[in-house]
Amino acid sequence: MKIENIKVCAFDAYGTCFDINSAAQKLSDEIGQNWLSFSSTWRTVQLEYTWLRSLMKKYVDFWKITEDSLDFAMRTHKIDIKFKNQLLDLYKKLNAYPELSNCLKYLREKKIKTCILSNGSPALLNELVNHAKVKNLFDDILSVDEIKVYKPNPKVYEMVIKKYKCAPSEVYFMSSNTWDVVGGGVYGFQTCWVDRFGKEFDRLNYQPNKIIKDLSELSKLF
Ligand code: LAC
Repeated sequence: MKIENIKVCAFDAYGTCFDINSAAQKLSDEIGQNWLSFSSTWRTVQLEYTWLRSLMKKYVDFWKITEDSLDFAMRTHKIDIKFKNQLLDLYKKLNAYPELSNCLKYLREKKIKTCILSNGSPALLNELVNHAKVKNLFDDILSVDEIKVYKPNPKVYEMVIKKYKCAPSEVYFMSSNTWDVVGGGVYGFQTCWVDRFGKEFDRLNYQPNKIIKDLSELSKLF
């Protein structure tokens, strides 16, 4: 059954549109066989720092958090710090998932607005969408930097409502991050969990409206 009455499709960026492991993967010869485990520590600590800084009300932008968490992960995994700048450069040019651009074109044909809603700082997100050549396929790029608090604070999800002047239930929110799906869902969005890796969903008293394996399945929904 097709979903109706959706005005906006809002996409999480990291892990949903862009492959966060692609930076470490590209340097896997230098990092060694544990590159994925290192990449996973980098991501976990990066997210923890967003939550901790939001709780402490000590916002710094996502780039600073990405640098700090990388430093922590490199030292934890005993990776030569001389690769730090290379990894940071690669993080600015993460691979977009291959189905992203067709999915955005399809939604545009259906006259549904599309935006990114991300923790990423504006310059970082701009570089990502430019590098992946999808900038023109998104109507807007919304960054938490405008409000200086990270997901899953409800103020983040409210940014979409303020931008498009629509009801939360008219927004379809896609994220591969389970806790982000919950954040959008309890705010009132219709949600879709992009379960790329067959993970467990969080126990946070909320279940997504839909679960898909990748974004190509969106064309069956609208
Ligand atoms: C983002 C992170 C949470 O793009 O993936 O906001």
